[in-house]
Formats: sequence, structure tokens, C-alpha cells
Amino acid sequence: METVNILTRPRYVAVVRRLHWWMALLIVAVYVLVEFHGSFPRGSAPRSAMMQGHYWAGIAVLLLVWLRLAGRARGGTPPIVPPLDKFTAALSKLIHLSLYAFFIVMPILGCLTAAYEGKQVFIPFTQIALPVPVTVDKDFGHQLEDIHGTIGTVFYWVIGLHVLAALWHHWIKRDNVLERML
Ligand code: HEM
Ligand code: HEM
Repeated sequence: METVNILTRPRYVAVVRRLHWWMALLIVAVYVLVEFHGSFPRGSAPRSAMMQGHYWAGIAVLLLVWLRLAGRARGGTPPIVPPLDKFTAALSKLIHLSLYAFFIVMPILGCLTAAYEGKQVFIPFTQIALPVPVTVDKDFGHQLEDIHGTIGTVFYWVIGLHVLAALWHHWIKRDNVLERML
């Protein structure tokens, strides 16, 4: 049986691998925090803490994505063995592109939603709110929230598909797609 050296096998550079898993955790936190904040009464401390957590986990994604893109630009994408057919390769490119767009668009839309709805984003563990350069406009804020929420729902499915695809490659196709990210 062919043996693969764990140190020389093709995989993404360390910064891309680490950020993939940290950002995956952040995205899970972003969703969990916003989905469950409604279990606590309006104005209560846990509810506000969860929303502040939602804001900052989202902002962290927006900050980290640039480091990840830079690492990817420098380190490239390791080869898949055996190679994907043209259709699957194009589909996975499209999904990955949409995920990177999601990392950038969602936090920005979220910040705009909070700003126009007059919701403050506090520097963690302080009472200092980030300055907001817009005038509160709740109607516009709610429209932005609808778009932010709709994209959020669509990406439940996109992310779900992404995870299933990774597991399918590993367990069914038995190629090296997942190992490249470990
Ligand atoms: C990857 C980043 C993000 C994702 C995936 C995300 C996702 C979501 C989702 C799924 C909702 C629920 C919408 C609904 O129930 O209709 C939501 C609500 C919201 N998000 Fe985000 N969000 C992100 C980043 C941010 C950021 C950075 C901010 C602000 C700094 C933000 C502010 C808000 C606000 C104000 C709401 C409305 C919450 C409410 O009052 O019910 N989001 N977000
Ligand atoms: C258990 C959960 C997850 C598994 C097993 C997984 C697995 C993988 C694998 C195997 C790749 C490499 C695909 C390839 O190069 O063709 C990858 C790439 C990627 N994953 Fe995940 N992933 C998970 C969660 C997530 C989450 C939650 C997100 C973000 C919402 C995400 C975003 C991405 C992105 C953007 C890439 C493209 C990497 C690049 O080429 O730069 N992943 N993932």
C-alpha cells in the first residue's frame, strides 16, 4: 500500500489551514449567538451580551479574511489527487468564491444594519461604543436587516453543502480534499 508522508503531502499553508478552522468556529458562534439571543428577555444582560458577541465574532471574520486571502495568494491551492472533473472543479470554485464574498459582505451589512437601527457596538468589556458616522433611520435599518437575515439563511444551506461535500470527498470518493485542510 502506498504511504503518504504527513509532512510532505500536499496541503494548504499553515495560516490558511488554521484560519479555516478558527473562522469556521467563529461562523458557528455568529449563528448560535444571534439565533438564541431571543431566548432571553429584551434588555436583559445575557441577551445584550449575545448580540455584542454576534457583532464582534462577525467583525473578527471581516478582519481575518484578509490574512487568509493573503496566505492563499502566497501559498496557492494544493493539488487534488485524483483530480476533480471539470464540473465539480467549477462548482467548488463557485462555492468557495461565494464563501469568501460572504465573509466580507455579511459583516459590513451587519455593521450597517446595527448603525441604521441605532444599535450600539461596544468595545468588549467597556461602555465605549464605536462611533457611528450615520443618522439612525429605523426603516432603512430594518430593510438592511432583512437582506442580512436572508443571506444568513441562504448560507445555512451553502455552508451545509460545503461540509457535506468535504465529508463526501473524504469518506466516499476517498481523495485528499479534506486532508489538504488538516
Ligand atoms: C459573518 C458575519 C455575520 C453573519 C453570518 C450574520 C448573520 C446574522 C443572522 C442569521 C441574523 C438573524 C437575522 C434574522 O433573524 O432575521 C443576524 C442579525 C443581525 N446581525 Fe448579523 N451576521 C454577521 C455579522 C454581523 C455584524 C458584524 C453585525 C454588526 C456589527 C451584525 C449585526 C446584526 C444585527 C443588528 C442583527 C439583527 C438582530 C435582531 O435585532 O434580531 N451582524 N445576523
Ligand atoms: C466541519 C466543517 C467543515 C469542513 C469539514 C470543511 C472542509 C473544507 C475542506 C476540505 C476544504 C478544502 C476544499 C478545497 O480546497 O477544494 C475547505 C475549504 C474552504 N472552507 Fe471549509 N469546512 C468546514 C467548515 C467551513 C465553514 C463553516 C466555512 C465558512 C462558512 C468554511 C469555508 C471554507 C472556504 C472559504 C474554503 C475555501 C478555501 C480556499 O480554497 O481558500 N468551511 N473546507
